[in-house]
Amino acid sequence: MRILVTGGTGYIGSHTCVELLNHGHDVIIVDNLANSKAEIVDRIEAITGQRPLFYRADATDAQAMDLIFSTHKPDGVIHFAGLKAVGESVAVPLAYYRNNLLSTIVVVESCLKHGVNRFVFSSSATVYGDQQVPFFETMELRARTNPYGETKAMCERILSDVAAVNPEFSVTLLRYFNPVGAHKSGLIGEAPEGIPNNLMPYITQVAKGILKELKVFGNDYPTVDGTGVRDYIHVVDLAEGHVVALEKASSGVHIYNLGTGRGTSVLELVKAFEEANNLRIPYSVTERRPGDIAECYADVSKAKNQLGWVAKRNVVEMCQDAWRFEQSYQVQDKRQD
Ligand code: NAD
Ligand code: UFG
Repeated sequence: MRILVTGGTGYIGSHTCVELLNHGHDVIIVDNLANSKAEIVDRIEAITGQRPLFYRADATDAQAMDLIFSTHKPDGVIHFAGLKAVGESVAVPLAYYRNNLLSTIVVVESCLKHGVNRFVFSSSATVYGDQQVPFFETMELRARTNPYGETKAMCERILSDVAAVNPEFSVTLLRYFNPVGAHKSGLIGEAPEGIPNNLMPYITQVAKGILKELKVFGNDYPTVDGTGVRDYIHVVDLAEGHVVALEKASSGVHIYNLGTGRGTSVLELVKAFEEANNLRIPYSVTERRPGDIAECYADVSKAKNQLGWVAKRNVVEMCQDAWRFEQSYQVQDKRQD
């Protein structure tokens, strides 16, 4: 198939482009480079031996999208493009609602206009809010903790309403848990600007000596050791999940959790990272981060039963691959300069 990937030079998008190309699909990337670099296209080519087409364009730009759709007539779309920083979304809510809602509306309008019936959307476990773990796809949407999460819940509703009146249209809502790690080559991975918000990139920067110590946000949660528990999933497993979801797409709305089904606490992840890479990660415990929940992990039986997809890579591999990328990224990009 010919697949249009919005946000394809981003963290999850780039790994998915690699897997799509490895599975024999053609890839057209649309990214405005708001949070990624054009050189990622070279790296995707270096890994796969195939160069995806790349357009630097904004997915909220209806004219640009119309032109790209009419030129390439894709068979399917994976819509990764979006802003994703929870704290920033509280500070600038309109930027988040504008970008995340409008890009989804514009891309779906292009799909309908050009007869593209496969649409895969990047949703998030954040839509479950604070409910009893594990999270099942049938649970109600409870994202009302920050504008970012709200955009994901709103897009899910918009897409479901569109599918209801377009019987040919296939919408797959993939709810990611906590993607970490990087491609084995060390060429692509997660490269946040400034001080990372998320745990794994923070740990890798402490390991590298860029940051002094990890701050553990609270050790008084009702969890195994008092620290927050999450379902970390290797980004390559996540990417493979997209290929399967796209290939198995059928009309209607299909929702899948993409996680491992296993919870890991902050301190367990620190320990795993230390053991996997033979390093020490200094840390201190500080107060809880506002808006955080104690535990978040998936029930993954639906993706297993209906898609035949399960996450294969364990926490050790996630830690090794994240660290490999952090080391090679510093050398190649001189981020510290
Ligand atoms: P990312 O920031 O690395 O990638 C997103 C890409 O979209 C970036 O390359 C950015 O430049 C691009 N982009 C943003 N707005 C755009 C626009 N209007 N037009 C064109 N390109 C645009 O983020 P990621 O971690 O790869 O996340 C991809 C998707 O998955 C996002 O929708 C995100 O909300 C969702 N998601 C991410 C996580 C996570 O923890 N990383 C968890 C759940 C869901
Ligand atoms: N944590 C720390 N110190 C840090 C960073 C994080 O202790 O410096 C803790 C958090 O309190 C939490 C765990 O590590 O217990 C994971 O935190 P992350 O920020 O890495 O991930 P979150 O689960 O908070 O959020 C992520 C994405 C959201 C997404 C959500 C569910 O950032 O966008 O996963 O998919 F919605």
